[in-house]
Amino acid sequence: MSEFLITDDSIKNTLDSDKRLTNADFSKIKSRADLEAVFQERGRDYSKALFNIEYERQLEQLQIELVKWQRWIADTQQRVAIIFEGRDAAGKGGSIKRFIEHMNPRSLRVVALNKPTDLEKKQWYFRRYIKELPNAGEIVFFDRSWYNRAVVEPVMGFCSEEQYQQFMRQVPEFEHMLFEDGVHVIKLWFSINKEEQSRRFDDRRSNPLKQWKLSPVDEKGQEMWERYTYYKEQMFAHTHTTFSPWTIIKTNKKKIARLESIRHVLSKFEYDGKENANTTVLPDPNVVMRFHRSI
Ligand code: ADP
Ligand code: AMP
Ligand code: MLT
Repeated sequence: MSEFLITDDSIKNTLDSDKRLTNADFSKIKSRADLEAVFQERGRDYSKALFNIEYERQLEQLQIELVKWQRWIADTQQRVAIIFEGRDAAGKGGSIKRFIEHMNPRSLRVVALNKPTDLEKKQWYFRRYIKELPNAGEIVFFDRSWYNRAVVEPVMGFCSEEQYQQFMRQVPEFEHMLFEDGVHVIKLWFSINKEEQSRRFDDRRSNPLKQWKLSPVDEKGQEMWERYTYYKEQMFAHTHTTFSPWTIIKTNKKKIARLESIRHVLSKFEYDGKENANTTVLPDPNVVMRFHRSI
């Protein structure tokens, strides 16, 4: 997070939604010090609570910006596609959820395609994704994208070597056509480490609300870690272009990744009414980084 700023107001807003605190608590808590005292009394983690307060505060500010941004995109009839890529459990879906929470569902879509059908398998690979590209005034969130063929498909053996090679040759051409036609494509790679991925898989196994997210493909994420790394590096090397660059979002801390991915997207547009305070819309360079060729 760019800055840690706690005000009495933000404490109060967050406490309003903390079900473990009673009305009697609220009347007691007038300042930061009171809050700390209540937490100490209960044996609860105060720094974590402060972090969450700050997270909620910044998320709300950013969501207000997203609403202004979306209105501007609609008014100016622009087309935006945001691609969320990354290893399993990197937090793609969770981030998309925070982006869209308060946006107008009419001019946005979330696209999370299933595995291709037999019919689709015989079509030109890009075809089913082209159908989902944004119309004028629309923002489309791709929870995985055509980049399946750059990483998960070759890792898992879902495509042939030839299909992979052809895809890698075609993708910069394809994205160049989108660029020339004026479609904004923002490519985000959510970067998680091996230990954190393992923790999140454990959580999915034990949490009934998250079990739907666990798939046979996920189970291989740990075992195939190095294969994923290889294909990911090839992907960066061949598909990071001036007209369609990759941005890496470090996502071991998923709440920070959510805030910073929103900041990154907002930082790309000069929409009407933009809040220009640095703390609101400037991404943290320790979390959001443009891919750089090292060789
Ligand atoms: P997710 O991480 O999106 O919840 P999975 O981990 O199950 O989904 O799968 C990762 C991606 O691989 C998905 O986009 C899925 O559609 C794709 N996929 C799964 N099985 C196949 C297959 N047999 N052929 C091609 N793609 C597949
Ligand atoms: P992941 O495996 O998901 O963590 O993918 C991120 C990868 O991108 C890591 O292997 C990093 O080494 C690499 N990386 C991160 N930032 C940069 C950068 N600025 N330039 C080049 N490579 C980077
Ligand atoms: C992922 O990155 O695999 C998931 O979309 C994580 C999430 O749902 O947050």
